Amino acid sequence: MEFKELVKAARKAKRYSHSPFSNYRVGAALLTSTGKIYTGCNIENSSYSLTICAERTALFKAVSEGEKKFVAIAISNDDKEFASPCGACRQVINELAGEIDIILTNGKGKIKKFKTSELLPYPFTSKNLE
Ligand code: THU
Repeated sequence: MEFKELVKAARKAKRYSHSPFSNYRVGAALLTSTGKIYTGCNIENSSYSLTICAERTALFKAVSEGEKKFVAIAISNDDKEFASPCGACRQVINELAGEIDIILTNGKGKIKKFKTSELLPYPFTSKNLE
């Protein structure tokens, strides 16, 4: 699967981005193992650190509705640079979705595909707490 529909959904999800401080719109689309897509956008706050990224919005929406198994997440921005997930989002992707495909796109419609472990090698996990 080339994740065309998922990338399209991530692009579309940007339209609800609430980013008055950075003007940097991000959209994410998360694919479940049953083929359902959950989308998310970044939502900024005047108390800056309360901002949430698009990837975590999508993951939290899905998990809060009972989803547990995921296949891929696509991330989109308007920039010519690829929309790479921040460190916090990499940690949350690994925790809630595990080893999935992470599809980065840029404003020019190009795509790069990674596995979670490529973007977050040697992670901190629940195993560290045993
Ligand atoms: N942002 C995301 O939505 N995802 C990322 O992985 C990187 C950063 C958002 C947060 C903030 O609203 C804006 O991009 C600039 O940092």
